[in-house]
Amino acid sequence: MKNTTAIGQLQKHIGQNVTLRGWLYKNRPSGKVQFLVLRDGTGLCQCVIEKAIIGEDLFGQIKHLGQESSLAITGEVREEPRSPGGVELAVSGAEIYCESNDYPITPKEHGVDFLLKNRHLHLRSQKPWCIGRIRHTIIDAIRRFFNDDGFTLIDTPIFTTIAGEGEQTLFEVDYFGQPLHLAQTGQLYLESAAMSFGKVYCFGPTFRAEKSKTRRHLTEFWMVEPEVAYIDLDGLLELAENLIHSMVQRVLQDNRTELETLGADIAALEATQKPFYRLTYTEVVDILTSQRTQDFMAQQLAEFTAQKEAFETELAEIEAATAKGGLKKWQQEKNARRSLQLRSEIDELNTKIENNPKHAKLAAEFRWGKDLGGSDETIISLMHDKPVFVTHYPKEAKAFYMREDRENDKVVENFDLLACAGFGEIIGGSVREDEYDRMMARIDHEGYNPEGYEWYTDLRKYGSVPHGGFGLGVERTVAWITGERHIRQCIAYPRMMDKVYL
Ligand code: 4AD
Repeated sequence: MKNTTAIGQLQKHIGQNVTLRGWLYKNRPSGKVQFLVLRDGTGLCQCVIEKAIIGEDLFGQIKHLGQESSLAITGEVREEPRSPGGVELAVSGAEIYCESNDYPITPKEHGVDFLLKNRHLHLRSQKPWCIGRIRHTIIDAIRRFFNDDGFTLIDTPIFTTIAGEGEQTLFEVDYFGQPLHLAQTGQLYLESAAMSFGKVYCFGPTFRAEKSKTRRHLTEFWMVEPEVAYIDLDGLLELAENLIHSMVQRVLQDNRTELETLGADIAALEATQKPFYRLTYTEVVDILTSQRTQDFMAQQLAEFTAQKEAFETELAEIEAATAKGGLKKWQQEKNARRSLQLRSEIDELNTKIENNPKHAKLAAEFRWGKDLGGSDETIISLMHDKPVFVTHYPKEAKAFYMREDRENDKVVENFDLLACAGFGEIIGGSVREDEYDRMMARIDHEGYNPEGYEWYTDLRKYGSVPHGGFGLGVERTVAWITGERHIRQCIAYPRMMDKVYL
């Protein structure tokens, strides 16, 4: 089609005649002019349609088009600072592809379950679109980071024979009569590849039969895992820090509009500068059990309560105005949207207010030796304004492959990276046990069958070297960067313990 362009490119075409192809996002018709907003996958554009220019017939046809009708619109690109993208289209013609009537997702209120059931359509809405674009940038930034740093991509198998992260979260499959399971991690294979290529990474879907319905858990999620020969714990922290920093910079550069639309905390992202905080697990236990944490929790509770009261007052005002009547349709819709938003914020605050004393108690009673729970991570993450590395966890709480600290055999040389603002763990990693005898002892201690691990323990026989790596969960990272509370919104088609809609 002649002069066809995308909305994202319009700035380059000011003063020219172009054709846009997309879907009707919304329309505000009046007697002689319509302000139609078109979306095309690259952005939104206001199209001004005048009856006197396009003729009565076409003007009438467009006026009756429903939300999400598909159409091509031709017109002159004009500068218009008040429009999204700073331009608008002065329309001279249009071609309708497919009319859409009664589109189920309207600008009014919808609950989460309804939207998940309609995920195939909901993906067209602004919020999933913005999150999808940011996810794309994050994945691209990750790949570039590793490719530019001399890493080789190794695709590890999905059907696997051995467990990496504990047998209780394996998804079993019947592989021609042989029981196998879906990959929980590509790490063990990467360790073998790192002995060939030096620096490697895998990037793919990962499966965990986690009986957990929290906002941080999916049963299928995407993980990028680098693995490096001849690296120590400090080297791993530096690699993770550089990766996160370059990814955040890319999103700030490429997706500012999407971040603004989502209401993400851009200042906090800008403040994500190196170095991040570094704490040992033992220091974290000291913090959790300190008076400082109890004071912090009390302060949080007071803030949640004040916020809840403010939202309840606003909700009551909106409901009173609506009950009084006489509002224009757009005001009613605006009020309905805000009421829904306020109700969901109040629900969220009620949960926080209910959980606060329980989490404060869990923190106060935390004893050295346990793995950090979700609420402990949340507290530490809220207490810091930049991501926090937590290192040297107790050996008993962690996976068999982690290298015992030679100066303190109670802990391993591992780390988790906690994102700030309460988002918690986004990366887990470690130096790997590289001595054959120690590795065999750990496998025995876990009760694993050593035969299945023969190829893996071979690596400790033939030219074993200090090595390590980590895994970064894509959806949790997207949630942190976009400010989205639930990771189910951070993948196009989420898989959760109790929900597989489509
Ligand atoms: O800490 P994890 O279990 O580490 C590993 O799998 C290592 N084998 C990685 C390695 O060293 N190569 O998981 C790593 C990350 C977590 O920090 C989290 O971001 C994400 O994977 N993750 C999940 N994301 C969504 N849903 C779940 N159920 C997740 N479990 C882990």
